Amino acid sequence: MILMKDIVREGHPALRTRAQEVTFPLSEEDRKLASDMLEYLINSQDPEIAEKYGLRSGIGLAANQVNSLKRMFALHLEDDKGELLSFVAVNPKIVSHSVEKTYIPSGEGCLSVDRQVPGYVPRYARITAKFFTIDGEEKKLRLKGLPAIAFQHELDHLNGVMFYDHINKENPFAEIPDSCPLERE
Ligand code: NI
Repeated sequence: MILMKDIVREGHPALRTRAQEVTFPLSEEDRKLASDMLEYLINSQDPEIAEKYGLRSGIGLAANQVNSLKRMFALHLEDDKGELLSFVAVNPKIVSHSVEKTYIPSGEGCLSVDRQVPGYVPRYARITAKFFTIDGEEKKLRLKGLPAIAFQHELDHLNGVMFYDHINKENPFAEIPDSCPLERE
């Protein structure tokens, strides 16, 4: 199982490297990586397991973060209607997006970043995403709210981009044009 010691942190080159397309059928190694990443997220959101293994809670994890340069990431979170979204996306892409932006007022976090980085991270408010499941089935999803933000955060990892790259350097809390802040609970 993936533990905190397996997750690379800021400064590690894997976080700044573009991950490579995965070919189908997935190798055993790729399948294991996919299931391990999703398992980490599920475990990290279980208070007892998280405490036992010292896992920091996360809703998304990209392969780069466990030092594997494969274009895949796992997401495990509830949408604004309380529906569970739990999947591994292979070779994901955004096929279209809203003009409207959104951002989390308290900023974003990352399992590879052991510090608070203040500032607004502009994200598309709505996206249409395409990806493959680990079995090679193509999926098309429309996402908004936190799932859309998380998808963009993880896709960035596959391109060697960190969330704070998007924060306005002069004024981290500068108003984001055409945006509406993410409302939570
Ligand atoms: Ni991250």
